[in-house]
Amino acid sequence: MADKFIALEQDKCLFVYNLLRANNAKTVVEIGTSFGVSTVYLALAVGQNHPGGGAKVIATEYEKEKVKAARGHWEEAGEDVVKVIELREGDLRETLKDGLPDEIDFLLLDIWAPMAAPALELVKGKLKKGAIIITDNTITAEARYKDLLAVLRDPKGAFRSVTLPYKGGMEMSVYLP
Ligand SMILES: C[S@@+](CC[C@H](N)C(=O)[O-])C[C@H]1O[C@@H](n2cnc3c(N)ncnc32)[C@H](O)[C@@H]1O
Repeated sequence: MADKFIALEQDKCLFVYNLLRANNAKTVVEIGTSFGVSTVYLALAVGQNHPGGGAKVIATEYEKEKVKAARGHWEEAGEDVVKVIELREGDLRETLKDGLPDEIDFLLLDIWAPMAAPALELVKGKLKKGAIIITDNTITAEARYKDLLAVLRDPKGAFRSVTLPYKGGMEMSVYLP
């Protein structure tokens, strides 16, 4: 799958963009960046929310060729996009261990399902109250998301979660510790 162009569909990206604009999000972590398509929407939203500076999208990717392609796409999209993205190259289980911002507004989980729960675990301590987590394909990949959904859908847990009827299902969860 290393060279496969798999991106979040445009309708999902537009929804995510609106969510970020609606809650004035500043800091985003993207779990799974690939060729950097969804990252463009994330970067535009937080950058436009905070034109004076301080907006940030932490992107994560371990395939070197994809990293190169993503950077190319961001250059093409322009300086407004480039300036807010911090790409952490390598296995996110290492690259997200340190140096996360203290208040994360939004987490996009768009990665092979079994990687999603460990990723949430790494970021969870830094999520702001009311932070939104979007997870792609939670209907089609429900079984493979077992560990993650056990956390997000636990009625006694820290998240309130709803499955949106986008293609394959898309989970919208709110962190309310
Ligand atoms: C579904 S794609 C992301 C698509 C992207 N969000 C978009 O819409 O353009 C998931 C990506 O996660 C990357 N990935 C998988 N496991 C990873 C890991 N442990 N660390 C960093 N990246 C990883 C894969 O190489 C793949 O490119």
